Amino acid sequence: MSPTSTDTASAAEAKNGTSTPFVNTMPDSTFSWQVTLAQKVIAITGANRGIGLGIAEVCLANSAKFVYSMDLMEPGEETIALQTRYPNFRYIQTDVTSEESIEKAVNQIVEETGRIDGLVANAGMTKHQPALKFERPDLERMFNLNVFGAYFCAQIVARKFMELGIKGSIVMTASMTSYRPNRAAPSAPYGATKAAVRNMCHTLAMEWSKHGIRVNSISPGFVRTAMTYYVETAPDWDTKMEYYGGMPRLADPRELGGAYVYLLSDSSSYTTGIDIPIAGIVGAW
Ligand SMILES: NC(=O)c1ccc[n+]([C@@H]2O[C@H](COP(=O)([O-])OP(=O)(O)OC[C@H]3O[C@@H](n4cnc5c(N)ncnc54)[C@H](O)[C@@H]3O)[C@@H](O)[C@H]2O)c1
Repeated sequence: MSPTSTDTASAAEAKNGTSTPFVNTMPDSTFSWQVTLAQKVIAITGANRGIGLGIAEVCLANSAKFVYSMDLMEPGEETIALQTRYPNFRYIQTDVTSEESIEKAVNQIVEETGRIDGLVANAGMTKHQPALKFERPDLERMFNLNVFGAYFCAQIVARKFMELGIKGSIVMTASMTSYRPNRAAPSAPYGATKAAVRNMCHTLAMEWSKHGIRVNSISPGFVRTAMTYYVETAPDWDTKMEYYGGMPRLADPRELGGAYVYLLSDSSSYTTGIDIPIAGIVGAW
């Protein structure tokens, strides 16, 4: 297949000497090499509950200057409890299926804090039912939130990083279902959305490395949230655990947080385009 004009754009730019100079992510000589988010402003989509809220807590515990939840739903008790412990945990009502809404939130964060250093594209949804039953509107809803939402969050924040000259980090929440089926509750479209999320990170990482922007993903297995309430109630759960091996329990959302902190921190300055599966072996079958 012959390359399209967009395929060859960077080569042409390089030939004409108009390409963007390469922005080196290597920390400067004063960097302490401590894994920390000190001074960093982090936005997390869907952080009012579940995995997003867990990531927010671990980012705050690791000295993030501000953490913003960009979520559609109003803060509930858990969000407010974390805000009470960390007044630097803020909320901006955002619909990540709308580019206008994402852009407004990102601009507000920069107006309030002067910067944005990291974005976690985490908001997502699933629906479990046999493949033969899915209708187009179900797929459109899922792809619109999980894939288009993550894509436009990344694109909008990458533009902002470039505008501000910030060596930003983008982390997307993929899923073990991006690799193989969730045998506990199949959802073919959901797995497809998460495979798309994991895959897009590779190309975004490649395209934006010259701007000093890193893009990675994390693939959780079973995490205890509203999305997985059904898992442990299955009558055959104990038997499944016996046969799957690994850790016979779901994860607490905070157990994923360290990996997000690492990928958002300057300590991961040479890490881009990778996925970190966190599944306690269960879900990694
Ligand atoms: N729970 C698991 O076991 C598991 C495993 C693998 C991957 N994941 C992924 O992790 C992410 C978080 O899952 P969770 O279990 O915490 O889910 P959850 O349903 O508990 O939380 C999702 C959050 O996203 C928000 N949200 C929904 N639509 C939105 C929109 N249009 N704009 C902004 N925010 C929106 C919701 O209000 C909610 O706060 C999802 O992408 C999910 O696919 C979850």
